[in-house]
Amino acid sequence: MGSMDRRIFCRTALAAGVAAATTVAQEPGSASKASVPSSGSSLFTPLKLRGVTLRNRIAMSPMCQYSSDDGFANEWHVAHHAARAVGGVGLLIAEATGVEPEGRITPNCLGIWKDEHVPALRKVTEFASRYGAVPGIQLAHAGVKASRHRPLHPTPNAFVTPEEGGWMPVGPSAKRYGQDGSVPHELTVAEIERIRASFVAAARRSIAAGFRVVELHFAHGYLGHSFLSPLMNERKDEYGGSFDNRVRFLLDTARDVRAALPEDVPLLVRLSCTDWTDGGWTLDDSVEASRRLAQVGVDLIDCSSGGASRSAQIPVGPGYQVALAERIRREAGIATGAVGLITEPAQADTIVAEGRADLVLMGRELLRDPHWPLRAWVALKPGTPPPIAREYAWALPETRG
Ligand SMILES: Cc1cc2nc3c(=O)[nH]c(=O)nc-3n(C[C@H](O)[C@H](O)[C@H](O)COP(=O)(O)O)c2cc1C
Repeated sequence: MGSMDRRIFCRTALAAGVAAATTVAQEPGSASKASVPSSGSSLFTPLKLRGVTLRNRIAMSPMCQYSSDDGFANEWHVAHHAARAVGGVGLLIAEATGVEPEGRITPNCLGIWKDEHVPALRKVTEFASRYGAVPGIQLAHAGVKASRHRPLHPTPNAFVTPEEGGWMPVGPSAKRYGQDGSVPHELTVAEIERIRASFVAAARRSIAAGFRVVELHFAHGYLGHSFLSPLMNERKDEYGGSFDNRVRFLLDTARDVRAALPEDVPLLVRLSCTDWTDGGWTLDDSVEASRRLAQVGVDLIDCSSGGASRSAQIPVGPGYQVALAERIRREAGIATGAVGLITEPAQADTIVAEGRADLVLMGRELLRDPHWPLRAWVALKPGTPPPIAREYAWALPETRG
């Protein structure tokens, strides 16, 4: 982040001091919204979603690690999550995890399509829980964007043919994404219903593996989003055409997964809240879809964007998606998470203090610094000791306040 950006956030942080004296009203039917304290940091107030209380408003955004074999979690996943749990993150959302083998982006993506995956995932959740973070998981199907080489491969993102160990991608329509890859198979209604059932089975396995939050991935041009976006969905049946038809897979999946989850487990949905393209899915669509998701028991919308069109003009910059979370929170009566280039403590604190989102999700900044929450604590709550793991705290007397 440049010095100009830093100056902007310093100014907004001062504005937050004014907002800090107010409390955001709780809208009926919504999950817990930001309750802003009269002093101190908003970012470090707990967030209660159903029976789960996050110790703060900082979530690790789901990030593919492309490090699995046959979908299994391994030591890398334990280390990746453990580092951020010790670093003070409130909610850890495990990467896009395939509900079917063909639902993986790459052959190296994490999976949860069989019971055998559960014990290795349990090691990930046990460690994170022990250090105060709530383990969550993003359930996903990559749809037309499946069967790609991972970024570490000499030809990243290139289509992996069935002969090379890949598979035929599937989607709402036989419409290729971009120039490469093969034309996806257009799903039949029976196949759509089977994938929905796979999400439900994956949700049950997630609970068995110790996850306490479940997120459905309906963003970034993957299967869920591709049903929503007119740019990707050209179906003529009950899953295509009108808004009601395009949101059918989303609402049916959310309703079924909700019914399969214990009552106290929050259900999140990540949406691409706009396609940033004429003729695509819009923020208005996301507001209406979020209203309906709230009605079927979804607790929070994780507000991302893009992924349906390679020609989209995305105004990337600090906090560029926060306005999406803010509008959905205000108009759909549901808690939201903001994500995208949120990197500074004051910036994150202001988003919560001003009631623009209930949760701040961070991706790359938490890769750069797994201890970002502790650093933010020192910046936002000077004079109060940060919650450092006891294994380190005894050796660092200056952190004891
Ligand atoms: C390495 C990497 C992997 C990602 N994998 C996922 C994923 O599995 N699911 C998802 O919804 N978004 C994924 N994303 C997007 C992030 O969750 C996040 O929305 C995005 O990076 C913007 O946040 P940031 O600016 O804080 O990094 C990934 C991003 C990165 C950098």
